[in-house]
Amino acid sequence: MKSKASAPGKVILFGEHFVVYGIKSILCAINKRITVTAEKIDEEKICIKSEMYDVVLEPNKSISEIDFKLRPFYYLSNKIIQNQNTGIKIEIESEIPLGVGLGSSSACCVASAAAILGLFSETSKERVLELAIEAEKTIFQNTSGADCTVCTYGGIMEYDKKNKFKKIESEPNFHLVIANSNIKHSTELVVAGVKRFGEENRDEFSKLCNNESKLIEDALKFLKENNIKGLGEIVIQNQKYLETIGVSNDKLREMIQVGQKFSFGAKITGAGGGGCIFALTDESNLKQTIKEFKDKNYECFSVKIDFRGLILF
Ligand code: MEV
Repeated sequence: MKSKASAPGKVILFGEHFVVYGIKSILCAINKRITVTAEKIDEEKICIKSEMYDVVLEPNKSISEIDFKLRPFYYLSNKIIQNQNTGIKIEIESEIPLGVGLGSSSACCVASAAAILGLFSETSKERVLELAIEAEKTIFQNTSGADCTVCTYGGIMEYDKKNKFKKIESEPNFHLVIANSNIKHSTELVVAGVKRFGEENRDEFSKLCNNESKLIEDALKFLKENNIKGLGEIVIQNQKYLETIGVSNDKLREMIQVGQKFSFGAKITGAGGGGCIFALTDESNLKQTIKEFKDKNYECFSVKIDFRGLILF
C-alpha cells in the first residue's frame, strides 16, 4: 500500500525574521510543490530516496546521529512506525529549488507527515501541521511555524506566533518573479545573527519591530484593495529593514536592483544571507522584469499563489 501527498512551497511577502519576535507576517503559498510517496515495507528499516539521497537507516536511532538534511524525514518515519512492526520507504520529488528560502524544508515536512500518517489512518490538516512543525524543529529549533502553516493551508495568510494564522480572503492579481542567488544559507545561522543584532542594538531593534508591525497593517490594507503599486512601496520599505538587521549581502542587493528596474518593488524572501529575492509585478511589467533578470544572467522564474495547500492523493 502506498500513500502520497504534496505540499506547496512558500514566499514570505512581509515580516520574515520579525515574525520570530512575535510580529505579524504575511505569507503566500506558491505553485511549486514537493510530493512525497510513503510505502510500508516488510523489513523494519527506514528508506529515504530523493534526487540527492538513497539511504537505508535503522529505526530508533537518536536524531543527532542522523545526517542533518534527513532528520525531518527520519523523525516522522520513526515516530509514526513505533509499535507498528513495519518498515517504511519514502520517496521525495521536488519542483522547488532546495534551501533557498522557498519553503522546501517545510513543504517536505508537511508532505512527509501527511503521506506517512496516511499509511496508517485518516488524518487532518491540524494533525499534519502539528507533526510537520515537530519535524522542522529537528533542523531549526526556533522556527516560528509560519512556513509549515502556509504550506499546509495554501493561499495568502497573516501569521503570528501567538494568534497563529488567519487566511486573507482577497485574491490579488500579482505575479512574483523569483530570482535565485544560488547562495545556500542556513536559516538557523541567519536567525541567530539577527538575534545577536537585536541583543546588541536593543532600542533600534525594538523600533524596527514597531515599524515592521505598522508596515504589515498597510500591506494588509493594500492587499484587500488589490493595490499592487502600494504593495510595491511596502516591499521596498521592508527590504530596508532587512538590510538594517544584516540579512542581505552584495549579491542580493545587486539582484534587488535588477528586479526593481521594472517591477513595483523587490526584496529578500525567507531568511536571507543567500537564497532568493522576489520582484512584485503584474501583467504590465512581468515580461520586462523576467527579461531584465535573464539579460543579467540570473536564474529566475515566475510564480502565482497556490490556493490548494496540502493535497492527499
Ligand atoms: C524563514 O523562512 C523565515 C524566518 O522568519 C524564520 C521563521 O519564521 O521561522 C527567517
